Amino acid sequence: MAASLCADEVVALPTETVYGLAANAFSPVACERVFAIKGRPANDPLIVHIHDLAQLDEVAFSTPEAECIAKAFWPGALTMVLRRRDRIPDNVTSGLATVAVRMPAHPVMRAVLQACGKPLAAPSANPFGYISPTRPEHVLSSLGEKIRFILDGGPCEIGLESTILDLSEPRSARILRPGAISASRIKRHTGMDVISPQSPPAPSRFPSEDDRADVKAPGMLARHYSPRKPLILFENSPPKGALDDPSNGFLWLYSPDKAGVRISPRHVTLAPDGRPETAARNLFHELRRMDESPVEHIWAQLPADEDLGVAIRDRLRRAANQA
Ligand code: TXA
Ligand code: MG
Repeated sequence: MAASLCADEVVALPTETVYGLAANAFSPVACERVFAIKGRPANDPLIVHIHDLAQLDEVAFSTPEAECIAKAFWPGALTMVLRRRDRIPDNVTSGLATVAVRMPAHPVMRAVLQACGKPLAAPSANPFGYISPTRPEHVLSSLGEKIRFILDGGPCEIGLESTILDLSEPRSARILRPGAISASRIKRHTGMDVISPQSPPAPSRFPSEDDRADVKAPGMLARHYSPRKPLILFENSPPKGALDDPSNGFLWLYSPDKAGVRISPRHVTLAPDGRPETAARNLFHELRRMDESPVEHIWAQLPADEDLGVAIRDRLRRAANQA
């Protein structure tokens, strides 16, 4: 695997968040292939994955704040945006003066990083705009014809993409994409003030090409992570008429008991154990299954806007923004 990566090949790999489509981060040719395979616009930069802190200095300029955060959360589901080194090719960062860096925790990803001896640029291994992959079969079904290798690490532990924290401005820490590591946890561990993201735009607003040109993290695009079928969100219970319509499928967070509904292929519970971590782990898998099922509309329940619920709401609201 490491030999293929060194030969500029693109390989799908498991991480603890979602599956990634990895390429040698020092090779502009290999990274160009990643953009082509995903159908990703050139102005949407890639995350660079590193094995150890020595590699951080090869790709970015670290800061005391970054060191503090790395100590608390790496390896793990947190990406830092820092000023970049020239060694990183322009296409990886879309020409920005910054680079996004993460030290992943997944043992398979770490073993490949170590064997390779080079940082790996890896976006989520899905076609641009579609639901992120959390199992090897997700990668196989949507990109299987375009890549030679998918490393099977089973289902991803976390199931949502990493938290992205922008540390590129002096004395500032701003969350660009919420994830499993929440703003309050970062604050608690580091004592830093962390600016949280604004909610995604209301569903009526769609990104234009102009929006894309200057977007800070394109994960912030109004529409992203989307199923092909229309997705409609609800807080406690959907309207009775929607429940009675057999063309609707429902993703419930914990239990649909209160709505008097029984689990069936049309009614799926993301976390029967009542844990938000379980809901996050199953979210993209169940969204894909609903998208592939005979239902015509998908209804999904929003969690409370706190802790992991912030990240789950963020993904669901973006997925529901139909163009
Ligand atoms: O959990 C994850 O982060 C996964 C796994 C594979 O590591 N990766 C992932 O990558 O979600 P991707 O490419 O799907 O999302 C990366 C996000 C994009 O929204 C991109 O715009 C943003 O990171 N990004 C990359 N470089 C950036 C930079 N220099 N400044 C701001 N945002 C950046
Ligand atoms: Mg992605």
